[in-house]
Amino acid sequence: MKLMRLDKFLCEVGIGTRSEVKNKIKNGLVQIEGVSKVTPEYKVDIENDKIYYNGTLLQYAEFEYYMLNKPMGCVSATVDNLHKTVLELIDTKIRKDLFPVGRLDIDTEGLLLITNDGALAHQLLSPKKHVDKTYYAEVEGKVTKEDVVAFSEGLDIGEEALTLPAKLVIKKSGEVSQIEVTIQEGKFHQVKRMFEAVGKKVVYLKRLSMGTLKLDESLKPGEYRILTQEEIDGLKMIT
Ligand code: URA
Repeated sequence: MKLMRLDKFLCEVGIGTRSEVKNKIKNGLVQIEGVSKVTPEYKVDIENDKIYYNGTLLQYAEFEYYMLNKPMGCVSATVDNLHKTVLELIDTKIRKDLFPVGRLDIDTEGLLLITNDGALAHQLLSPKKHVDKTYYAEVEGKVTKEDVVAFSEGLDIGEEALTLPAKLVIKKSGEVSQIEVTIQEGKFHQVKRMFEAVGKKVVYLKRLSMGTLKLDESLKPGEYRILTQEEIDGLKMIT
């Protein structure tokens, strides 16, 4: 049993601010099964009580974890005046405090973890943890064995230090090469800047994995799903 004040619960599931939800309770919009006098300070059992707002059963989730296949054209932000945000794509979300774990560029597709678990996000993004991120990229120009060596030795992308060793795998070398690259950091435009450092241009970029979490390839760009418990546990083991 987990008890919480009703007004706090309603705020946490996004019904409104503390004063708004108090008004809604006063106006009889909130019902709790088996309870005749519903007040803001009523202690609800958030795991077992059936709480309705406007006739709809409310679900509580302390943490939510979503895997999104980020499409091009939307931004990895919680709010944006110009572009659609990745959060706008998660239309079944319960919590209002979700955020993307790290950023993908507006033109990058692929795996993006969206959660409100700040502690997990902090660990995954910590530069000290060196969490592997693997990307598939299409690159203008012939990617060579020399590039593979350069990536493994670290590149000068204009930062104080060279990049940490990255694993570059050539899938197809040609006018437009296809590669997979695994990096341990998450610097701004990192993959693009690493290819620039060897005189090449990334023309398509998609993130395939982050730590143990792999993009579910059945998700089309713009689609998402809830993480399995196994996936959540796997990410927590990294940290
Ligand atoms: N590296 C980039 O250049 N862009 C991304 O979106 C992610 C990694």
